[in-house]
Amino acid sequence: MPIDNPASRIRLTGRTLTFTGDPRDDADAYRYTEKGSILIEDGKIVWAGQAGEEPAALMAGVEHHEYGNDLILPGFVDGHLHYPQIGVIASFGTQLLDWLETYTFPEEARFADQKYAAETAKLFLDLLLSNGTTTAAVFCTVHPQSADAFFEECSARNLRMIAGKILMDRNAPDTVTDTAQSGYEDTKALIEKWHGTGRNLYAVTPRFAPTSTPEQLQVCGSLMSEFPSVYLQSHLSENTDEVRWVSDLFPEARSYQDVYARYGMLGPRSLFGHAIHMDEADLAQAAETGTKFVHCPTSNLFIGSGLFRMKETWDANVDVLLGSDVGGGTSLSPFATMKAAYEIAQFSGYSLTPEQAFWLSTTGGAEALSLGERIGRLEKGYEADLVVLDSRSTDIIRQRTDRAENLREELFALMILADERAVRATYAAGCRVHGT
Ligand code: GUN
Ligand code: ZN
Repeated sequence: MPIDNPASRIRLTGRTLTFTGDPRDDADAYRYTEKGSILIEDGKIVWAGQAGEEPAALMAGVEHHEYGNDLILPGFVDGHLHYPQIGVIASFGTQLLDWLETYTFPEEARFADQKYAAETAKLFLDLLLSNGTTTAAVFCTVHPQSADAFFEECSARNLRMIAGKILMDRNAPDTVTDTAQSGYEDTKALIEKWHGTGRNLYAVTPRFAPTSTPEQLQVCGSLMSEFPSVYLQSHLSENTDEVRWVSDLFPEARSYQDVYARYGMLGPRSLFGHAIHMDEADLAQAAETGTKFVHCPTSNLFIGSGLFRMKETWDANVDVLLGSDVGGGTSLSPFATMKAAYEIAQFSGYSLTPEQAFWLSTTGGAEALSLGERIGRLEKGYEADLVVLDSRSTDIIRQRTDRAENLREELFALMILADERAVRATYAAGCRVHGT
């Protein structure tokens, strides 16, 4: 629940940071204001700039939230995670296919109970917001009521979230499967109910190729044609046993990604988690279709899936988002995700810069979701989804940021050392939904 009712006008002051371009082309493509000010009215930013220079006409009746030395950024974006898996985070000792059978499917079966789904959605969103994440692409379970529970809770908090009911009609227990027909009907009804209702957005969500029949994948492609403004989210080439299984199930396809291509599932609103074991032709096809890959570094390490090649993927002109992939991933914190992305890139001799990591987690993520004109910048007209960071939240961070010589060093210290204790406040549509 929102902690504060939004005053009709609020003013946040602190150090403000917003990206103005792509830091891969220009490391200085950001605007940093030491004494920054943001004016918000009816959930949107109406002015951003230097404190003291606000137009008088916008200051009447304003409620002031003073953040001093704290850093105000656009809210974080998480490109891939599963709300029903919060309960199986940190489950020991398996790789992907065993992990799904041992831990994940039994837990997801519990979401047939709408009450359990609603309680979990509440807990999940509390945790997400306490980590500063204001937009995420979220998998529900196969049960339509799991998506209803999630969107109801997002609506109560006025969040800009993307989510969808999973479709899976084979190779899984009956408790977590649907059929091609019911998957179509339930998804269509959920799109009509939730997509564009308030700030909610819908994603057609086939779990991954092995758990859908060709008929069901066809249904997913048809839904994308029928509702061109919805998203599609799934998993792709995460684990080598999974890749072999897909080639056995779909011998006619050239590659795992080609299965999705054959059913009309690639495109600029399609988000595929992992995409680790890809060849050049796959990368070229993803670039050509505008398909997005979501790098899930803590999950790939935890489940032992492999090392995503960030630089190679970027060089092939494929857009990348960062995702926590909880419960396969080990943390909801964007700092943990950025840190693991940095560490994995180091394996291939590439050092992900702090500007690139924070851009991916804010503006870049918003743009990859085709939401770059609504969220992801501290600029007039943007929805006021913001995070306020304390760069001195623990002793170890404080001693490091105290000796940081510039913003870049401070951001790097945060992405390597920080956790949710650094998140002083989170705002969604101008309303403080976490912190003080
Ligand atoms: N592949 C298919 N389903 C899943 C899932 O729930 N998590 C992860 N990490 N990979 C998957
Ligand atoms: Zn996932």
